[in-house]
Order: sequence, then structure tokens, then C-alpha cells
Amino acid sequence: MSFPSPTKTYHTEAYQAIDPALPALSSKGKNVVISGGGSGIGPEIAKAYATSGASTIALLGRTEKTLLSTKTQVESAFPGTKCYFYVADVVDNEAVKRSLADYATAVGSLHVLVANAGFMPNPGSITESSPEDWFNAFEVNVKGNYNLTRAFTPHATKDAVILNITTGALHIPYIPRFSGYTSSKMAAARLFEYLHHEQPEKFVLNVHPGVIKTAMGDKAGLEGVPFDDVNLPAAFVVWASSAEAKFLNGKFIWANWDVDELKAMAAKLPESNDFTLGLLGWP
Ligand SMILES: NC(=O)c1ccc[n+]([C@@H]2O[C@H](COP(=O)([O-])OP(=O)(O)OC[C@H]3O[C@@H](n4cnc5c(N)ncnc54)[C@H](OP(=O)(O)O)[C@@H]3O)[C@@H](O)[C@H]2O)c1
Repeated sequence: MSFPSPTKTYHTEAYQAIDPALPALSSKGKNVVISGGGSGIGPEIAKAYATSGASTIALLGRTEKTLLSTKTQVESAFPGTKCYFYVADVVDNEAVKRSLADYATAVGSLHVLVANAGFMPNPGSITESSPEDWFNAFEVNVKGNYNLTRAFTPHATKDAVILNITTGALHIPYIPRFSGYTSSKMAAARLFEYLHHEQPEKFVLNVHPGVIKTAMGDKAGLEGVPFDDVNLPAAFVVWASSAEAKFLNGKFIWANWDVDELKAMAAKLPESNDFTLGLLGWP
């Protein structure tokens, strides 16, 4: 199975133009917050920012062991990057506020937020679902990101980068058994669009990471959909944080789309509704 793409080239793994080691994509001097930094896609995102020279990285999640493991891996491979970790449930507003305040006290202003932590309810129909499990997707994906963006803002630089790891499932009319995941991720994507309009000096982007083999990727159990390499979204978010991606501010982009072909659209994209959410057929 393949997905439609606005770029002729559809990537399934990292490639030269988004190599985080490229000087043009340098994160030197940057302080980067990654939620869900202990497992899944998050640790690879942390390694990609470290490759690009980030000064410090804050890892948020609920599991101390996995956060510590990411910190150890990053700091041993990239001695120039210091990792902080905060055991916090994104749904717990006070814990998130305290974590980001402590991080800012330690490092100063915050430059990048990657809102990556997410939850997928057990796939199933609406009537068969457990209300607690179904609505937990709204707790983590919507309330969690609401808490995170509000906790980040007071410590963020004026031109900070905010990347929401969303899902391309929002562009597919119907995926059986996905109602809780898709509707909560849709609400979150709109939350980040609002943030873009409310804080226009910042760079806000919704990013679909591709289909990645993680605990969530396995839970989704999408038959016939091949996995992309986790290096693709990791490198892509570093590229998306760089000056090269500024023309995409406020958009919704898939990590699979070729950045050189996207750059060729730079003149027309900012003024168009392309790559934003809307209603098909509405003029
Ligand atoms: N994998 C895919 O194919 C795919 C496709 C499209 C979009 N995405 C999106 O990509 C992001 C990462 O997904 P993934 O595949 O890496 O998922 P994952 O393997 O389930 O990992 C989720 C991460 O989020 C953290 N997390 C979950 N609930 C949390 C909470 N309440 N508070 C703090 N941290 C929490 C988890 O750590 P703890 O459990 O330790 O807290 C874990 O590190 C998600 O937003 C997901 O929706 C993934």
C-alpha cells in the first residue's frame, strides 16, 4: 500500500538533505524539549538533535528508566549535548509546568518544543470501546499538549520552534477502529494551528512522522502498510527546526515528503491554504 504525495519523491528513510550533521541544520546553542523522550520515536529525535549540536535536551515522560536510558545514550555518543529528564505525565499540568520551569532555570531560554508524547486507545469500534481508554486519547493528545504548550511559552524565545508530532491518519477518510486516536489527534492538530495564529513570531508545524515500528506502531496493527525508518522523522524534525523550513510555518507536513521539492514551493505556500486542515468541497 502507498499513500498519495504532493512531492514526486516519497521518502521512507533519512536522506542527505535532512542529515542533522549538515551545518545548515545546526542546533548549536539550542535548548530542546521532547515529550515522550524515553521510548518510541522520541529517543531517535533526541539523538538527531544531538547530532545537529543541540546544547541541551529535556526529555519528558512517565518512565524514569527509559528516560535515563535515552539520556545515557545521547550523552555518551554526543558529549557536547547535556540531557535533562523529567518524570512527568503530560496530563498533570502542575508536573509539566514544574518540569519546564526547572529546565529553564537550569539552561535559560527554550528554543524548541517537540510535542511527541501520544496515546492510541485500543483499536475498536465506538460502541465496543472502553470510555476510559477512548477518552484517555483526549487526555494525553489534547490536554497533554495544551499543558505542554502553556508550560513552554513563558520560557520560550520569541521565535521558538514548536513541532507537533501528529498523524497522517487525519487525511484518510476512514480507518476502521481508529475513532479515538484520529479524533483526538485532529483536535490536537487544530490546537497547534491556533497556537500558530496566536503566536505568529514562533514557528509552529504539524508533522506526520511516517509509519514507524514502535509500541504504538505495533498496536495500530495496520496490515499492508510498510514501516518507515525511524531515522526519517528524527532527521526531518531537525530540518523542520532550521531556517530552511521557515516557509512552512503553520502547515501540516509529512516527514515522507521531499524537502527539496517542498522548498521549490516556498514562493506560493505561505499565502495558500495548501497543507492546512479544512473541509473538502468548501470553496
Ligand atoms: N508510530 C507511528 O507509526 C506513528 C504514526 C503517526 C503518528 N505517530 C505519533 O508519533 C508520536 C510518538 O509515537 P510513538 O510511535 O513513539 O509512540 P509510543 O511508542 O507509544 O511512545 C509514546 C511515548 O510517549 C510517552 N507518553 C505516553 N503517554 C504519556 C503521558 N501521559 N505523559 C508523558 N509521556 C507520555 C511514552 O513514554 P511513557 O509511557 O514512559 O510516559 C513514550 O515515550 C505520537 O504522538 C504518535 O501519535 C506515530
